[in-house]
Amino acid sequence: MMTSKPPVCVLDTVDATLAPCPSYLSEVFTARLDRWWPDLLAGLAAVYPDAEDIAHRVVKLAALAFTERPEDLHSLDLRRSLEPDWFQRPDSLGYAAYADRFAGTLSEVAHKANYLELLGVTYLHLMPLLASRAAPNDGGYAVADYRAVQADLGTLDGLRRLTRELRGRGISLCLDLVLNHVAREHQWAEAARRGDSHYRAYFYTFPDRDLPDVFDATVPEVFPDFAPRNFTFDEALQSWVWTTFHDYQWDVAWSNPDVFCEYADIIFFLANAGVEVLRLDAIAFLWKRLGTNCQNQPEVHAITQALRAAARIACPATIFKAEAIVGPRDLVHYLGTAERTGKVSDLAYHNSLMVHIWSMLASRDVRLATHALKELPPIPSTTAWITYVRCHDDIGWAINDDDATAVGLTGWAHRAFLSDFYSGQFPDSFARGLVFQENKHTGDRRISGTLASLAGAESADELGDDEATDLAVARILLAHAMIFGWGGLPVIWMGDELSLLNDFHWDDEIKHADDNRWVHRPQMPWETATTVSQQVSATGSDSQALPTVKGSQALPTVFDSRVTLAKCVYDGVRHLSATRSALPHLHASIQTQVLEPSDPGVLQTLRAHPLGRLFGVYNVTDTWRPLPEARLAKVGLDASWCVDAISGAPLVSGDGLIWQPPYSAWWITSS
Ligand code: GLC
Repeated sequence: MMTSKPPVCVLDTVDATLAPCPSYLSEVFTARLDRWWPDLLAGLAAVYPDAEDIAHRVVKLAALAFTERPEDLHSLDLRRSLEPDWFQRPDSLGYAAYADRFAGTLSEVAHKANYLELLGVTYLHLMPLLASRAAPNDGGYAVADYRAVQADLGTLDGLRRLTRELRGRGISLCLDLVLNHVAREHQWAEAARRGDSHYRAYFYTFPDRDLPDVFDATVPEVFPDFAPRNFTFDEALQSWVWTTFHDYQWDVAWSNPDVFCEYADIIFFLANAGVEVLRLDAIAFLWKRLGTNCQNQPEVHAITQALRAAARIACPATIFKAEAIVGPRDLVHYLGTAERTGKVSDLAYHNSLMVHIWSMLASRDVRLATHALKELPPIPSTTAWITYVRCHDDIGWAINDDDATAVGLTGWAHRAFLSDFYSGQFPDSFARGLVFQENKHTGDRRISGTLASLAGAESADELGDDEATDLAVARILLAHAMIFGWGGLPVIWMGDELSLLNDFHWDDEIKHADDNRWVHRPQMPWETATTVSQQVSATGSDSQALPTVKGSQALPTVFDSRVTLAKCVYDGVRHLSATRSALPHLHASIQTQVLEPSDPGVLQTLRAHPLGRLFGVYNVTDTWRPLPEARLAKVGLDASWCVDAISGAPLVSGDGLIWQPPYSAWWITSS
């Protein structure tokens, strides 16, 4: 029978394991165990037949890790339990980068922390840095050892030092925890290949093509170009192994409870190294079920609940971020719905918002975005979206067919338009992206490229057209204003704050040559970065309002060099970050309401915080657009007191209309 209290045998194990701890710490552990045991057990019971035994094993591992947890992290656990909304607050801001491309090594990352601080960064996601197989390794996502750091980046002690130094500056480190697969060179896979049946059961292996063929009929291909289908024949095993991603990334069998216990222990280990956010990579793929696409299965959420409960017992300061780049209806479950509300991940990527930002900029129309984003159910008030414009991955056009139909479009045609537009093939497109993983069967074409190149800075450069550069800058800042004004944890992709263009030499490195996602993973140009950020530290000046596109009568800004352009974008991003941090309306516990637009070219959102309302107005077109003054009262604002928080200026109405410049954002409040 399942118990809501930990049974005596579990408590005995805990007592024995915690014997070396001072009594106050043992009490802390036991209190947490009492609190989270039901979640742990319920999560496990939804997946495994012998849930209580597995829970017992996990608690023992948790208790051991607890005894090894450094003192400063015990204090962090306490502080986080007093401020559980630390990642939801408007003054939290994320930044994501490859450690080597950003700084070289882990110790160099610490030396660059000042740059991050000036931007207002409080959360740093360093791309995979645990020991991976030699290249090719999918940018580090083929992990060979979860308990070691990639030798050319540093050591485990270096990682511990880095987390401590960053924490000292108010920056939490986020690392990837690749849950779906390990490298073929990981010791579990090596042992399986040597004939160890215990480890063979860590993987899905098939003696012939019978089942793989049945699965392949319903499971989509993630990398149709360089890794078609989902299984790879392994000579040593004389079997087909499940490999959703590359042939060297072996999917692990989460149906095996030993796998669950291994990952729970890895979580404790990384948390004890000071990692505060674990990005649960490829989480959607964990559970396989015949006849389905083997994504988003209910067991995925039960497993996450059990892992989250285990972490809450051993290391509650460490939170989870789900990397589920899935359709909008499946997405919300990763933050918890129904009985899993508040019990799974704390953060999840708002893939829909990202896709619709690009869709709005290409079509200069907000109706599809409004419909799709309105349809998303609310998320638990203890969680937050990761809002972002670009990340290290390509952009897949996750436009739902029903949403498209609802606004008179056709899903596939709109997706094809976006691929044409962002690969620069559509007439007059401002974008310069590359097509990634064209799927000949479905017609899907994903897109690689940096924010600046996709937003028009590269084509403007080619043309030497200052007016086009003005527009590109405005689009870059508008996109940032949208993610900063949404009310989640916005994450800047390295270099976007400096408007870095595509890396034209991305394929010079042979190991990257077949993966054009490297086009948007350039090296950090420190000379430029230092110049623009030193001007800030030297003047101590706070950032100023965003530049506006003046329209055809006025002369465009002259960007005489890449540095002036970088400075303009950097200042704008910094300004948005500073403005946002002072707006309680943007706390992530409040939901964003997407309103029916008063103009098809202007996205409107409302955030009704008990302290006041924030009306977000985003003009995604290249023309001036009128906002009817009456709209302010309609959303509950006092029109006579309205200010745009971004510019700090009151809104000026002429004949009942307030005119908004092209590609600009207003965060209107009435205080
Ligand atoms: C995630 C990563 C992506 C990687 C994949 C496989 O989607 O973001 O870069 O290729 O997982 O690990």
